[in-house]
Parts: sequence; structure tokens; C-alpha cells
Amino acid sequence: MRRVMLGVGVFVAVTAIAQTGVGAGQTAPQGATAPAGDAAAGKLHYTFGNTSCTNCHGVEGQGAFGPALAGGRLTFERFRAYVRNPLARMPAYPESELTDQEIADMVAYFATIPAGAKPLAWRTPLPEGAPRGQQLAISIVGCAQCHGATFETPRHGAAEVSGDFDWFKRQVYDHTNAMREHWAQIDRSLQPLTPLPSGPPGRNRIRMGNYSPSRLPEATLKEMWAWMNDIGLYLPVLRGRITPAEPTPAARAYTVEVINTAVKGKGITTEGITVQVALPAGVTLVSATGNGYQGVHHSEEAKADVAAWKIPSLVAGDRQVFTVTLSAPASTLKGTMTWAKPAVKADGEIEFALAGPGGRGGRGGV
Ligand code: HEC
Ligand code: HEC
Repeated sequence: MRRVMLGVGVFVAVTAIAQTGVGAGQTAPQGATAPAGDAAAGKLHYTFGNTSCTNCHGVEGQGAFGPALAGGRLTFERFRAYVRNPLARMPAYPESELTDQEIADMVAYFATIPAGAKPLAWRTPLPEGAPRGQQLAISIVGCAQCHGATFETPRHGAAEVSGDFDWFKRQVYDHTNAMREHWAQIDRSLQPLTPLPSGPPGRNRIRMGNYSPSRLPEATLKEMWAWMNDIGLYLPVLRGRITPAEPTPAARAYTVEVINTAVKGKGITTEGITVQVALPAGVTLVSATGNGYQGVHHSEEAKADVAAWKIPSLVAGDRQVFTVTLSAPASTLKGTMTWAKPAVKADGEIEFALAGPGGRGGRGGV
């Protein structure tokens, strides 16, 4: 009930402010001419580009958690005003992450799609009996439409730097600066993909906008923070990687690396790590090396024989390297990691696999 009422409150606020036309602090250019938009480019920015608008507005702007954008209802000025200074649940996107030209392109794209398509289901639905913090995240504020029902990535980000509430708050209110500062501390050589200098691998923009404290009060953020702490704030920043130790396709020897990719001297230590590599059907283990090797046993869960290792603790920036030699080359090889501390109530297993050509071979980003 509380949720429904809050939702209504938000929409009352939207209507009230929307009627005055312009929100406080809005910087829409007065009388500026809209850049000519290119619909094909707009489709790229919206669908495949550096944005995550589709998480809330649907892959073709048909609407989901957010309203429909298709149909050419919004002028460039209205569209831009909303993106730069949204009135309720959406974060604000500054020019650095979405340019006026890109906005004009999106407007041109939405004008090419007829209105009236059925809105999509929410990307992250609200589970039955969700606690208050999760309700905030999924349905009231909406962060989880991007971050998923258990906030895996923010918990992971917190672990990278042992983030506290002040870290969290800055990531929400001043995200586009805080995130770049966060990334600057990350050791890219430990990450799964080839790095870009100022952004995550594969893109150079920030996908989450900035929330305004006047629309998303700190007290609400504190409730979400308490919920994240309850699930287990720090999701270990372990990365597993399997690479052939001899030339493929004949490789029978593989290297298994387990890396704590958190920021050295700052991020969390993970304790009581169990690493398992499943042996493909019909393949046996010839030999294995590495500290903490436990031998091979049958795992019901993996439905396979698994080679296992135990790592007492792995501090931020450290790695452990193991090897396995098999009786025959493996086309796929999969591993899992679980850990004892920090304890978590969700997302308690990390999977990794043999890196194919250009493959990620480990956990990825958001
Ligand atoms: C967290 C979900 C979310 C994300 C991500 C999001 N939006 Fe929104 N958007 C909304 C919601 C919800 C509304 C309705 C008003 C409100 O609650 O802010 C909205 C409203 C809008 C509006 C105004 C629509 C109208 O009819 O007046 C525009 C334009 C818009 N969004 C564009 C975008 C673009 C472009 C992006 C990506 C850069 C984006 N949105 C990302 C949730 C989101
Ligand atoms: C448009 C999708 C989207 C929405 C909505 C969103 N985030 Fe994010 N968030 C991201 C992405 C993507 C990143 C990684 C960097 C970036 O912004 O590109 C991120 C990063 C973060 C981080 C930094 C740690 C990390 O690397 O994950 C925190 C903390 C965070 N978000 C919390 C929140 C909270 C709290 C909300 C709601 C108030 C929210 N986010 C809403 C997409 C989103």
C-alpha cells in the first residue's frame, strides 16, 4: 500500500511541475534552434550506443518502467529539457554523456516509430514480498531496472573500494564524476576486457545519470543502503580466467587464475574461497598444480567430476594461479567460485569459463 501511495505522490509531483513547463534549474536554450536529427544515428545511440535508456523505455521506445517515447510526440526542446533535468524518477544526463546532437537524433528516430505499441514488462519485476529497500530499488525509484533485483553491480563496486555510505551517495548524486574517479583507481590489467582510458571496456560514456537530492532524498538512499547491507554489501570482486597453457587446438594443459580485482590497498579481502573446474564428459584429469589443491570429486550440482582448490584468503589486487592437465583437449571448460567471507545472501557464486578468441572468460561489468 505504501508503495502505491508513494508512486502516486511521485506522479502528482510530475504533473504539478510539468504544468509549469520548466523545472527548477533547467537550462534549455531559449529560442535555440534544434540541431537537425538523423534517425539512423538516433537508433544507434538509443539502442546499441552508450546509453541504457532501453532498460526503462523499451528497445523501440514502446515504454516499460518509463513511458513510451515512440511516436514523435516530444519536440527536441521538451525531450532535451527532460533528459537534462528530469522531474521524478529518471536520472539526469549531462551533455558529457548524451550530447544535444544525439538527443536530436533520438527525437528524429522516435518520429519514425508509430505510437501505440504495447509497453513491455518491466525489465526487473518486483518479487512477491520484497522488503522495503528492494521495493524502493525496483519499483519506486527504479535503480534496479538497470542494476537487477539484487543490486549486484553496486555491491560489487562497493567491494572494489570498500565503499561506505558517503561513497554510495556520491555515486548517485554526482555519478558522472564519481564513477570516472572510481574507474581511475581500477587496475585494468586485472580486468577481463581491453581497457579504454576513461571508461569501462568497450564504451567511453557513463550510462547512469545523476540523481538530484531534492527528488531522491538522502533518507531514501539510506533505506536502499540498509537493504544492500542486509543482502551482503560487498560482493567479492573475484575474477576467474582459464587459458590454454599450450597451443590450441591441441591444448590439454590449462591455466586457471583467480584474481581479486578490487583496488589494491583499498578493496575488500575475500576469505574461504573454493574454486572448482568441471571436467568435460569423457575427459580425465592427468595432473593439477597450485596451493590448496583438493583433488577431484564428483559434484551433483555441476553434474560432473570437478577439480577443486581452496584459497584461505585473497587480498585486493592479488592472484592465485593453478594448472590442470587433461587427458584430451577441451572445447569448453567451466569453473565456479564460492566463498565464506564476506557472507552474502544473494549472488554467492561466480562462474567463469575458458576464454574463446576475444572472449571475456570471467565476470563482466554492468
Ligand atoms: C530508471 C529508468 C529510466 C531510465 C534509465 C531512463 N528513463 Fe526516461 N523516464 C523514466 C520515467 C519513469 C519517466 C517518467 C517521468 C519520471 O518518473 O521521471 C521518464 C521520462 C522520460 C522522458 C519524458 C517523457 C514524456 O513523455 O514527457 C524522456 C524524453 C525520457 N525519459 C528520455 C530518456 C532517455 C533519452 C534516456 C536515456 C538517456 C532515459 N530516458 C533513461 C525512466 C527512465
Ligand atoms: C540507466 C541505468 C541505471 C540506473 C537507472 C541506475 N544505475 Fe547505477 N549504474 C549504472 C551503470 C551502467 C553503472 C556503471 C557505470 C556507468 O554509469 O556507466 C552504474 C554504477 C553505479 C554505482 C557505482 C558502482 C558500480 O560500479 O556499480 C552505484 C553505487 C550505483 N550505480 C547505484 C545506483 C542507484 C542507487 C541507483 C538508483 C538511485 C542507480 N544506480 C540507478 C546504471 C544505472
